[in-house]
Amino acid sequence: MNMIEIIAKKRDKQVLSTEEIQFWIDGIVNKSIPDYQSSALLMAIVLNSMETKEVADLTEAMMKSGDILDLSQIGGIKVDKHSTGGVGDKTSIVLTPLVASCGVKVAKMSGRGLGHTGGTLDKLESIEGFDIFLDNDEFVDVVNTVGCSIIGQTANLVPADKTLYALRDVTSTVQSIPLIASSIMSKKLAASTDTILLDVKVGDGAFMKTIEQATALSEAMIEIGRHLNKDVRAILSNMNQPLGSTIGNALEIKEAVLTLQNKGPKDFKELCLDAASIMLTQAKVVSNYEEGYKLAQQKLQSGEAYAKLLEWISAQKGNIEVIKDLSKLPQSKYVTELNSEKSGFINEIKTEQLGHLSMLLGGGRQTKDDVINYAVGLELVAKTGQKVQIGEPIIKIYHDKDLTEQLIRMAHDSYVIENTIKETDPLILKVID
Ligand code: URA
Repeated sequence: MNMIEIIAKKRDKQVLSTEEIQFWIDGIVNKSIPDYQSSALLMAIVLNSMETKEVADLTEAMMKSGDILDLSQIGGIKVDKHSTGGVGDKTSIVLTPLVASCGVKVAKMSGRGLGHTGGTLDKLESIEGFDIFLDNDEFVDVVNTVGCSIIGQTANLVPADKTLYALRDVTSTVQSIPLIASSIMSKKLAASTDTILLDVKVGDGAFMKTIEQATALSEAMIEIGRHLNKDVRAILSNMNQPLGSTIGNALEIKEAVLTLQNKGPKDFKELCLDAASIMLTQAKVVSNYEEGYKLAQQKLQSGEAYAKLLEWISAQKGNIEVIKDLSKLPQSKYVTELNSEKSGFINEIKTEQLGHLSMLLGGGRQTKDDVINYAVGLELVAKTGQKVQIGEPIIKIYHDKDLTEQLIRMAHDSYVIENTIKETDPLILKVID
């Protein structure tokens, strides 16, 4: 077997065998295959795609390329959820204690923000002391005692993906459903939970811009799960405006805490309850979606979900005084409120642009080594579908440095305000199981 033949096969639209895919992934890990050959094969996959069996083989080979978490010491069904990345997406921070408060074990590995999208780990680190670097035993211990935990990916989790992702980034080979699906699913499967709920974001602020693309990606990932005997389901949610009202690390923690106190924005709470009900169904603690919804709603109303949050933050060494008194979270030096420049209906919010703006304020990284400012970000005072008058507040900017004209313009231009109202899509577009 050799790499030139494998590349030629995919170039000629043939199906790769399990052994050929394994040969490629082994060669990436032991560095016997040079980057230019992997890049050529990646481009051939982008152009000629892969069959379901090839995608499952690729995912499995990648998953086994490094550490696989051992969750065998945790009893019962272990659940996980994964978001494909969005703006203002603090869902995991609510769902983790919410689902755990219903008696289900949530064992989750999360990532950092990239580009215009935020990352759960960065948000959690805005809580003083919070430790995302637990080893396998400590992680298992926290899940067993509290019922939930979120940690960062271990250094040797799916090393093949680290190499491939870096190559894809610089060879224009990111946009391929087999490659995205295998990249995401190999990491999720190496995290060893029994079920996975995928929150596939769709729209301007997301990777997948259309429902069709998001459906195809979801189906590919569900199919991988089927091959490997995992219960994988997907919820497609709208990213044509930021989720909830805030973008930025500490601001999003505050919004997540308020939601767990049953005081959060209605649309965001709905997404959390819908996702929780699917996870509870996957964990088999309820027999259907409606029962799951009611149980999760009851845990929010009774304060048990909030109590679980405090227990969890404390178990990972976070200072819960910061959660009990949200004014102790990192605070920006300045808050500038911008008023609408015209009257009309907010028909669109340019989500990716607001994600970039938050990053430029210091809330995200422009390069891998940038240090994040947890305090800065944005608060959307008005959202899509609302009517505003000229001079009324639309957005607040939390910042530490003086705002440039360009940043202010970016914020204003993110709001598309028109004379007649346009219909907007609902937050939850589709559930696939
Ligand atoms: N997220 C991943 O982990 N991999 C991809 O290819 C795309 C998004």
